Amino acid sequence: MSTGTMKKSHSQWSSRMGFMLAAAGSAVGLGNIWKFPYMAGQMGGSAFVLTYLLFMFMIGLPILVLEWLIGRRGQKNPIHTMEDVAVAEGHSKSWRWVGIIGVLGSFLILSFYSVIGGWATDYIFLAAQGTFEGVNGEVTGQIFTDFLGNVNHLLTWHTVFMFATAFIVALGVGAGLERACKVMMPGLGILLLILVGYAAYVSGPSFGQAFRFLFTPDFSAIGGTAMLAALGHAFFSLSLGMGIMMAYGSYLGKDVNLLSTARTVVIMDVIVAMLSGLAIFPLVFANGLEPGSGPGLIFVTLPIAFGNMAGGTILGVLFFIFLTFAALTSSISLLEPTVELLEEKTRMGRKTATTVSSLFIWALGIACILAFNEWADIKLFNKNIFDLLDYLTSKIMLPITGLGTVIFGAWMMKQDLIRKELNLGPFWFSIWTLLTRFIIPVAIVIILVFGLIQ
Ligand code: PHE
Repeated sequence: MSTGTMKKSHSQWSSRMGFMLAAAGSAVGLGNIWKFPYMAGQMGGSAFVLTYLLFMFMIGLPILVLEWLIGRRGQKNPIHTMEDVAVAEGHSKSWRWVGIIGVLGSFLILSFYSVIGGWATDYIFLAAQGTFEGVNGEVTGQIFTDFLGNVNHLLTWHTVFMFATAFIVALGVGAGLERACKVMMPGLGILLLILVGYAAYVSGPSFGQAFRFLFTPDFSAIGGTAMLAALGHAFFSLSLGMGIMMAYGSYLGKDVNLLSTARTVVIMDVIVAMLSGLAIFPLVFANGLEPGSGPGLIFVTLPIAFGNMAGGTILGVLFFIFLTFAALTSSISLLEPTVELLEEKTRMGRKTATTVSSLFIWALGIACILAFNEWADIKLFNKNIFDLLDYLTSKIMLPITGLGTVIFGAWMMKQDLIRKELNLGPFWFSIWTLLTRFIIPVAIVIILVFGLIQ
């Protein structure tokens, strides 16, 4: 079906397992460990958790499948994939805008994601040096504030993190992305189990309290705000709407079953989020800390717990290594769409394409760093650069791309072929159709509208 000739031979994942780990590596990240627990904490625990779970399976999973499916058809970077698949289905080339906004989104997100990845990396060393021993909330708050005020320090760690990301991506799809995830993902699983086990052990009855906080259904608490946040987070957490999964799909062989692979990836992503909650909240409750303290939860609140328990230094180090690994397997995925684009559309080889993209992203990251200190007062629409980028990407670009993808997949592509490709019987296919044609687009429009007027 491909139009035109392909310029360079296209890489592929070496196995279904490799692909699955890379996709799970992209999905599991700061979103699961940093963002999910603090959002759950702020939005009443289980109300948010249950809505998020529903959206992950009902909305996230079908869009994940569609991104892979389209990527696999196109076999190119997200922009030219969208263009080629649209033309092959008899539609306008303008569908490439879905790819353009996606690639741009991943580029912008990486600039601030790398800054936070840098914080995580630095906190490994802070924890290892015993910085948190015996601290109280005032001290950890002060450490974090001083940390955010120190430009050189933030810049160093942003640079280290971005360099590590670029290094892995430059090695290529198989030798870089896939291999890194094959090493880091099992490590991540082991670290997480140790953390949860340890949290359960040291916090005694608070473990039960954390469990109830996250899972006791309280339907009265499910309101508009929690729903909106949960939907946005389902997107972010599965790395949807950013061209990433489409790029990953373009390296995918015909024999991989998309639905079952997507199910596994969604389940892994959800399990990591839940277990992160179960590693963090028992410590929060056992130490009488505030679950709703917001983005500072793991950088300000958690160190208090680490600093005041037996073996806390080791646990703290393990926790921040875990966070850094998770961030790194996501940041490499954020760099991939831009690199794939440059590699295919210019004369640049993989290494040059990676270096050029990374330098631009790194430079934009510096603006995000300055937003915490020297440029804190520079505001547009009442937001500093960091908040503005987060807002622009997660509240605007990501839902628009997601909407474009689902409308394209459900209304523009030949449904018969999709049914065959997904191997669905009539009953499940009608559910699929109902979801992708109606329920999901309407739900996304609702997030967009609410997100914009809030
Ligand atoms: N899904 C990743 C996470 O949960 C973040 C991410 C977002 C990665 C967007 C890629 C794209 O942290």
